[in-house]
Amino acid sequence: MEDKAKKQNIQLVADLKSNTPIYVKADRQRIQQVLINLIDNSIKYGIDGGKTKINVYHLLDQILVEVTDNGQGIDEKLLPRVFERFFRTDRSRSRDIGGSGLGLSIVKHIIEAHQQTVHVRSTEGIGTTFGFTLEKYKAS
Ligand SMILES: Nc1ncnc2c1ncn2[C@@H]1O[C@H](COP(=O)(O)OP(=O)(O)OP(=O)(O)O)[C@@H](O)[C@H]1O
Ligand SMILES: [Mg+2]
Repeated sequence: MEDKAKKQNIQLVADLKSNTPIYVKADRQRIQQVLINLIDNSIKYGIDGGKTKINVYHLLDQILVEVTDNGQGIDEKLLPRVFERFFRTDRSRSRDIGGSGLGLSIVKHIIEAHQQTVHVRSTEGIGTTFGFTLEKYKAS
């Protein structure tokens, strides 16, 4: 996604401090799709000169991946609806940013098919964080 980010003058920062790989039980391609959809949004609804951060946190049996931007944010009244199919805020329509409103419904579908959870928190004018969990892989 680096190229796309650069074109919008947005910096992508992945906080993967340790070189130790993290193993998860998941469908590689589908999770790639999840990350693409979330990072794509952070760029599309970001601000010029903005930043997208990707953080990974260790929970007990899961990891938590968060994609955080400092973009336009989402009105809290609309927040519960962003995972609905074809839902787009008026603001993103009016700004004439292309999209079909499917990206996040696909994210939710994929994560729930993994029996995991996805969540969002956002403040208008400050930014948005989408997070999802994945099951850690344990060699037995
Ligand atoms: N990071 C974000 N910051 C601000 N608004 C967002 C963000 N991510 C999603 N949204 C809002 O939620 C709506 C739904 O997002 P979703 O990814 O499902 O659709 P889309 O980006 O409009 O189209 P598509 O992903 O199908 O190309 C967006 O239209 C936008 O209004
Ligand atoms: Mg999208």
